[in-house]
Amino acid sequence: RLPKKVTIKEVGPRDGLQNEKKIISTAEKIAWIDSLSEIGLSYIEVSSFVHPKWIPQLADAEEVLKKIKRKHDITYAALVPNLKGLERALKVNIDEVNIFMSASESHNRNNINKSIEETYPVLEEVIKEAKGAGKTVRGYVSTVIACPYEGSISPEQVKKIADRLFTMGIDELSLGDTIGVGVPNQVERLLEELLPYFAVDKLAMHFHDTRGTALANIVKSLEMGVTIFDSAIGGLGGCPYAKGASGNVATEDLLYLLQQMGVETGVDFHEALRSAQLIENILGKELKSRQMEILRAE
Ligand code: HMG
Ligand code: MG
Repeated sequence: RLPKKVTIKEVGPRDGLQNEKKIISTAEKIAWIDSLSEIGLSYIEVSSFVHPKWIPQLADAEEVLKKIKRKHDITYAALVPNLKGLERALKVNIDEVNIFMSASESHNRNNINKSIEETYPVLEEVIKEAKGAGKTVRGYVSTVIACPYEGSISPEQVKKIADRLFTMGIDELSLGDTIGVGVPNQVERLLEELLPYFAVDKLAMHFHDTRGTALANIVKSLEMGVTIFDSAIGGLGGCPYAKGASGNVATEDLLYLLQQMGVETGVDFHEALRSAQLIENILGKELKSRQMEILRAE
């Protein structure tokens, strides 16, 4: 009943690092991303072409994209908020353009300085230009379960935004529980709202694990046919513009779950742990995933 194979989209170098206060060097980022390219992933979100004042950690997006060793079977993607960001991303030949907005008015405002209505025309232009340049576009919608400022968000609101974004031409939509509040029956309600309208293979789930519910939510999503999951090595991550948001579900914890459930990912668990150790050393702090804790205890 579960999918045989799923795709893990590694967002650690973007979502993971954007929340780290200690600025790490471009060379260290490149070394880590190059190690991620060796573990069997097919997709890595490597940086963000947002305003460097908003996310100083990722101000070196161009350098990173230029200097990583790209493998032909991996999609290297980055966040792009507007045309200025797109121009920067295209110059360094990004493979996929990832646009983003929020299902909640106040998180959208805090995160990208615009109302939801003001955001659509900006994203529409980015999508059009990106497509014109031959790129695929991934959309993100944040706060799909709840917003740190407004509380719960209705599945209908998420559906409305998904509809607009797919109509504008996105190829895939990642649904973000940005602050990690969701539980499986909420995920079920959300997917029940969306699945009659959107193909399941165009939807990805993006769970932050603030309250330890991410894996439970992933199992529910798997049971409902979802085959694309975002995660970050070491459980790094969080949105600086969402109060209380902590790390993404850890890639190595997700790998353990999927492997034990007999779901293929193509990603090597032990290599993933080695890559986690590399970024742990670079950041100089213990990563909080279950698998890294087990490794340290051994
Ligand atoms: P703004 O200040 O409203 O931008 O920021 P603006 O259009 O008014 O421009 C102001 C100045 O910024 C101008 O320069 C622009 O050129 C410059 P000036 O003329 O004054 O010298 N500028 C830029 N420079 C470089 N790159 C750019 C860019 N754009 C404008 N792309 C903006 C609007 C969207 C840019 C800003 O709010 C921003 O960068 N926000 C980023 C927030 C962010 O990265 N948040 C985290 C990612 S989202 C997330 O984590 C959630 C997710 O993981 C899913 C989930 O968990 O749910 C995806
Ligand atoms: Mg996120």
